[in-house]
Amino acid sequence: MNKIHPLTITRKKQEGKKITMLTAHDYLMARLLDETGIDIILVGDSLGNLVSGYKTTLPVTLQEILYHSRAVSHGVERALVISDMPFLSYHISMEEAKRNAGILIKEGGAQGVKIEANTSLIPIMKSIIDIGIPVMGHLGFTPQFLYQLGGYRIQGKTRESSEMLMKLAKDMETIGCFSIVLELVPAQLSEQISKSISIPTIGIGAGPHCDGQVLVTHDLLGMTENFKPKFLKQYAKLNNTIKKAVRSFKKEVEDMVYPGKEHSFSL
Ligand code: KIV
Repeated sequence: MNKIHPLTITRKKQEGKKITMLTAHDYLMARLLDETGIDIILVGDSLGNLVSGYKTTLPVTLQEILYHSRAVSHGVERALVISDMPFLSYHISMEEAKRNAGILIKEGGAQGVKIEANTSLIPIMKSIIDIGIPVMGHLGFTPQFLYQLGGYRIQGKTRESSEMLMKLAKDMETIGCFSIVLELVPAQLSEQISKSISIPTIGIGAGPHCDGQVLVTHDLLGMTENFKPKFLKQYAKLNNTIKKAVRSFKKEVEDMVYPGKEHSFSL
């Protein structure tokens, strides 16, 4: 079993091998994913929507990411564990950003952090890299900028915005990010970006030319019933499977079928 490091991820791009990343928020899911050989397990701030039921990722706190990072890292032996830095945990000052990133490594057990960035946050990202913490950049549609971006929409469609995303990707490469998530970006632009930088791009809704792909595990497993964006492929329909199992349990208890003799202890 070879532990995956950020260097393993950058090397995969050089070797032309695709990178796989999925989200996990708890110990059991992390263990399951790790056993499949997934390269990177992301403790994404999408846990705000999926675990806490928030409408956006903006209310997610460092404490929430820390709690889930700890649970995930307990379940992982091989994959690289990356924790999202939540909104307002890295925006205020370099000192706060470094301390908060450090907490996710030191107490959460993550081996790196992911940061949703624009140009003005690049120096802050660099300051985190400078203290030895691997950073994965995130650009394109960045959910923490939801209100500024005017909703859930494809980024980089105009010449100006595609140039801006290309520049941001190059800046992230220059400061030493080990990879970049590209979210909701036209396939042609993510191909251009992927070819122009030496660090891997990991796409979600960014077409097939990225160096790797990431999905939210709940979406891939079909647990989120009404979330069906164009880029999503549901590899299972757990929503139906779970409801079917629970309905069977309910009916069997009501009909006094469960528990049977085989499930009961005798004197
Ligand atoms: O929070 C998250 O799950 C993410 C992925 C969608 C990349 O950022």
